[in-house]
Amino acid sequence: MHIDLKRGSSKTLPQQISETLAQRITSGLLQPGARLPSVRGLAASLRVSQVTVSKAYDDLESHGHIICSQGQGCFVARRPHIQQDAGTGWQDGYDDFLPRAQLWRNFDFSGVRYPFHLAAIHAELLPLDFIGAAMSRLVTGKPELMASYGNFQGDAELREVMRRHLHSRGVEVHSSDIMITSGSQQGIDLVARTFVGPGDTVYLEAPSYTGAIDVFAGRGAEMIFVPMDSEGMRVDVLTRLCDKRPPKLIYTNPTFQNPSGVTMGITRRQRLLELARSYRCLIVEDDPFSDLYFRKPPPLPIKSMDGDGHVVYMKSFSKVIAPGCRIACVAAGGNILSRLIAAKSASDLGSPLLNQRAVLPFIAGRYDTYAGQLRTALRGRMESAVRVLKRYAPPGVTWNVPEGGLNLWLQLPSADGIGKLREQAELAGVSFLPGDVCYSGEVSSRHIRLCYSQMPEGDMEQGLRLFLQLLTEHLGAERHK
Ligand SMILES: Cc1ncc(COP(=O)(O)O)c(C=O)c1O
Repeated sequence: MHIDLKRGSSKTLPQQISETLAQRITSGLLQPGARLPSVRGLAASLRVSQVTVSKAYDDLESHGHIICSQGQGCFVARRPHIQQDAGTGWQDGYDDFLPRAQLWRNFDFSGVRYPFHLAAIHAELLPLDFIGAAMSRLVTGKPELMASYGNFQGDAELREVMRRHLHSRGVEVHSSDIMITSGSQQGIDLVARTFVGPGDTVYLEAPSYTGAIDVFAGRGAEMIFVPMDSEGMRVDVLTRLCDKRPPKLIYTNPTFQNPSGVTMGITRRQRLLELARSYRCLIVEDDPFSDLYFRKPPPLPIKSMDGDGHVVYMKSFSKVIAPGCRIACVAAGGNILSRLIAAKSASDLGSPLLNQRAVLPFIAGRYDTYAGQLRTALRGRMESAVRVLKRYAPPGVTWNVPEGGLNLWLQLPSADGIGKLREQAELAGVSFLPGDVCYSGEVSSRHIRLCYSQMPEGDMEQGLRLFLQLLTEHLGAERHK
């Protein structure tokens, strides 16, 4: 069991352990009846004394979260009784339905000079002049954009531009089959709210995009992670799993997958679609990276083969234009889209008109030329990152050279001490994404994700060298334990 402990924090270690476990219990991540690790086992894995863990367990027991019995161990209580503390203490027992699995969202990255944790593109590479100029023209020239709500489905002209954009990428849909969302994160959320309920089975790649995991966890879905190989999700394994637990939905990020960078081959894409047909379920095809290829264009989207409405296709513009615009489009056939539009209207009454209008001329005119320049710049950054890795990475650390996208997925010899490494790296000003947040629940991953596009190239190389030095020291210390 992984718990992030902050040694310099004003909270004691027992407090940090008991608060984290209490959160996991009240949020349902640790279910009633679940057995907690033994005092000795948890102390060893967190590298703290057994007294520290015993104090945390005593505190949890005194608050009614767990029940411990001699010789049997400690278990999550059936109905946690929360003591009323003074002030805001009552909030501890106030149930929420947010997942707590991805506790990394609470990490503090404010002091980080080399941000490798976030899959984004540095502002110097984004077309911000063009978008900024369009915005100020619109605010003064078309004030009605700010004074109205617009269409829930999205601006009709932008949807037509999106239709042409998707057509040039093999996806044939009408503009009436397209909705504009505030990023594809919102698209995933709308699909989950509309179609996924507690206990529904959702299949995802192992590992998967953290934001999608959070959404499905928040719906109480039963998430099943399907292993991947160099061709993407193992559809043969998925088929066997579906025999036992039929899917309600399959979520995939088939092109330059976040976090692994892997791209699903064309045959797999076809087989995945056949599987969705046979189980009469939806595939969410999340596609933010396909324009960011380095050598040759990736296979066409699964949606390009979908004649009968099994694929809800999401194309985000965050990774090419700017995440701050919050613009993505969702394409879906049949009556799926109208249900999603209803969810969108309940969620935010439509995406900001100003942003939709500001990106419209860019997507209609300059996008392809600009995406070409961005690919060249990103490929340069990726190649320098790989050069630094080849030169400075300690033995036993491996990675795949990505064909596109923004991330490197590193494999370490073991998962031991990655939490500690993260703390040390952050003190030195370097952040990375630990692989375990790319799964739900308590897993221990020996991977970490580094994004090479969030900094100017020189900073990225410097930060990466610093990180690799810390990693070398960390692995050396682990070997001598
Ligand atoms: C695979 C994937 N899907 C969706 C998103 C969300 O992007 P946005 O909401 O900005 O479109 C991200 C962001 O990193 C991502 O990597």
